[in-house]
Amino acid sequence: MRASTLSAALVLAASSAHALNITITQKGVPFVSSPTNPPPFAASQCDKIVEKFNTLGRSTVWNLVQKTPFQGELGEPEGMVRIGEDRYFVSAGEYTSKTVSYNGTIINGTDRTAGSGFAHLVVFDNKGGRIADATLTAPGDLEYHNGGIDYDGEYIWATLAQYRPNTTAHFVRINPRTLEPTTFLRAADHHGGVVHDTKTDRLYTLNWGARNASTWQLNSKMFTQPPTGFTKPLNVVRNPSYYADYQDCKFLGHPKAYNGRGMMICSGVTTNIFNSTIGGIALVDEETMVPVAEVPITMKSDLGTLVTMNPFDVDVVNDRLRVYFLPDQHNSTLYVYEALPNSPYEY
Ligand SMILES: *[C@@H]1O[C@H](CO)[C@@H](O)[C@H](O)[C@H]1NC(C)=O
Ligand SMILES: *[C@@H]1O[C@H](CO)[C@@H](O)[C@H](O)[C@H]1NC(C)=O
Ligand SMILES: *[C@@H]1O[C@H](CO)[C@@H](O)[C@H](O)[C@H]1NC(C)=O
Ligand SMILES: *[C@@H]1O[C@H](CO)[C@@H](O)[C@H](O)[C@H]1NC(C)=O
Ligand SMILES: *[C@@H]1O[C@H](CO)[C@@H](O)[C@H](O)[C@H]1NC(C)=O
Ligand SMILES: *[C@@H]1O[C@H](CO)[C@@H](O)[C@H](O)[C@H]1NC(C)=O
Ligand SMILES: *[C@@H]1O[C@H](CO)[C@@H](O)[C@H](O)[C@H]1NC(C)=O
Repeated sequence: MRASTLSAALVLAASSAHALNITITQKGVPFVSSPTNPPPFAASQCDKIVEKFNTLGRSTVWNLVQKTPFQGELGEPEGMVRIGEDRYFVSAGEYTSKTVSYNGTIINGTDRTAGSGFAHLVVFDNKGGRIADATLTAPGDLEYHNGGIDYDGEYIWATLAQYRPNTTAHFVRINPRTLEPTTFLRAADHHGGVVHDTKTDRLYTLNWGARNASTWQLNSKMFTQPPTGFTKPLNVVRNPSYYADYQDCKFLGHPKAYNGRGMMICSGVTTNIFNSTIGGIALVDEETMVPVAEVPITMKSDLGTLVTMNPFDVDVVNDRLRVYFLPDQHNSTLYVYEALPNSPYEY
């Protein structure tokens, strides 16, 4: 009994690894280092993060506490989750041919050609060493753009979309121990920036430019067989904020300070505003997309990229709010800042 169960498990593991197209850089090193999956940093410290966030302002001093180059070519990093103190999971896009503008014409609802590429999920250790790189899409797949990601203590949630507005996407949840994705939903729009509200078992996603947010009700049946048609979102709301187009969000919880409303914490940028780029982080009501608190972030990477350009995660360490950014494409460096306590007279 034991032996046959084991060999069946091995066959399964082998076939998914084959289908998965994983490149292992550190042999024998587990993707998650602890025997059980650790809780997500954001959601396990919800009330504390909300309390700290509401002391931030424009004059907050962000102290750089860690700068770690991540090994290897990363393409365009899009989202990031820390799983335990010693692992970073990064969603990234490898673009093999560019999308080309239709020059003002709308064809099939969109404004550019499909381009081509691959969606990746890359695992790094806490020294920036690459552990593994899973390619989540097959050659020729149109939905190769992997957006912002979330981790709920069990799975990583991701959206793989066409790299152009108003198109299509499929949603996956990924076992962080195997990097095996399960497709459970198809959607008739571009989606990214997913978060999983574990209390309501709903997902929230953002479309192109984070202009609209969609709500999706999960149910266990979705995970038993691949989706056939498109699923309709439970609800779609227009994002009322035009300051920072959120790129990567984490589910926070239902904080007491906001009467138990579901909240996420998001990071993003707006490019080409007065010929420059601005960015920031925000606490956002997941149902309405209303930012209930927001602060601008002005730090740039050594290569000149605003740090909120791409992936983001959050933590509280030694009673200080910590933010994690991975802004640059290709050769990416992790920047970790902690917020120093404000003087009460600074704004
Ligand atoms: C749009 O214009 C650019 C610049 O003239 C050109 O390179 C591109 O091929 C055009 N797009 C299409 C789909 O023809
Ligand atoms: C538009 O959609 C139709 C029907 O799916 C397809 O045949 C056509 O190739 C598409 N056009 C472009 C430019 O992608
Ligand atoms: C999206 O594309 C569909 C056709 O695929 C079109 O009917 C719809 O108007 C488009 N929506 C927007 C917001 O452009
Ligand atoms: C594996 O992924 C790489 C891109 O990372 C791609 O070039 C290659 O064709 C993929 N192999 C298979 C068998 O899908
Ligand atoms: C946002 O959603 C509304 C309502 O569904 C829709 O009318 C609008 O076209 C959407 N806008 C974008 C940019 O997707
Ligand atoms: C942005 O730059 C362009 C080209 O240099 C210039 O024509 C335009 O006035 C600038 N816009 C603003 C708001 O500064
Ligand atoms: C990345 O770093 C390597 C080694 O320093 C360098 O050879 C390469 O040109 C860099 N790539 C990019 C895209 O900056």
